[in-house]
Amino acid sequence: MTDVLAVANQKGGVAKTTTVHSLGVASAELGRRVLVVDLDPQACLTFSLGFDPDALDHSLHDVFVRRESVSDVACPVPGVPGLDLLPATIDLAGSEVHLLTRTGREHVLERALQPVLDRYDLVLIDCPPSLGVLTINGLTAANSVLIPLQCEALSHRGVGQLLETIEDVRAFANSDLTVRGIIATMYDERTRHSRHIMEEVEARYGIPVLQPPVRKSIRFAEAPARGKSILQHAPTSPGANAYRQLARTLLEMSAVAGTVG
Ligand SMILES: Nc1ncnc2c1ncn2[C@@H]1O[C@H](COP(=O)(O)OP(=O)(O)OP(=O)(O)O)[C@@H](O)[C@H]1O
Ligand SMILES: [Mg+2]
Repeated sequence: MTDVLAVANQKGGVAKTTTVHSLGVASAELGRRVLVVDLDPQACLTFSLGFDPDALDHSLHDVFVRRESVSDVACPVPGVPGLDLLPATIDLAGSEVHLLTRTGREHVLERALQPVLDRYDLVLIDCPPSLGVLTINGLTAANSVLIPLQCEALSHRGVGQLLETIEDVRAFANSDLTVRGIIATMYDERTRHSRHIMEEVEARYGIPVLQPPVRKSIRFAEAPARGKSILQHAPTSPGANAYRQLARTLLEMSAVAGTVG
């Protein structure tokens, strides 16, 4: 079964896009067939994969308005065999308005992805920093949610609200949705503070923090402007290795789930 993971947190700038990009590349390196979905009208994932969102003729928006199918719009990412992108453009902001008028609006992405799922082992969905109809589509299309969480004071304050939204999606649209875990991002290992925050979040919400945490590093800020992930830009850096290890953790988790279900 294809593992479909929504990477979500309505808090901005917590490394959702970085996580989708890095895990996408790392999972493709492991030989998995991967589709990354840019569900954010800011189109940062599309840009950081080396595409110019302003120059694209087709995007996820065309899928949402039923002009195109996913297989028409998804494109291979140059330089990363096994990785495809379903790109975004600013048009996606218009999709939100369109979706609100549709019956079954939560299920539009799920339905659109259905015909291509057998081409992929893993689908990673980069949600925008909101709990609006686009994120709800991401959560409805997914089997499981990954929550990137920045290791700083008060960063967990939105987690309760996100879990309530996930609970609603379970009740109304996707009863099998699970939370796979938290990815600790921008981790500062020199302070006890980061570790303490993660322990507190784990205890308070009962969600596992996946290992290892991803340390804070300037390398991450450098990579997107070059159209590369940290794995290509700084292949031996601790950040690249952390995402490689997380990709292996996810592969093991989905192998276990596969034998059960
Ligand atoms: N481990 C890290 N260390 C330092 N900087 C990081 C790390 N991970 C990501 N960043 C940087 O933090 C910024 C925000 O990351 P990113 O765009 O992935 O967050 P996001 O959650 O997708 O943001 P948005 O909510 O706007 O979509 C980027 O400049 C990125 O390069
Ligand atoms: Mg983002």
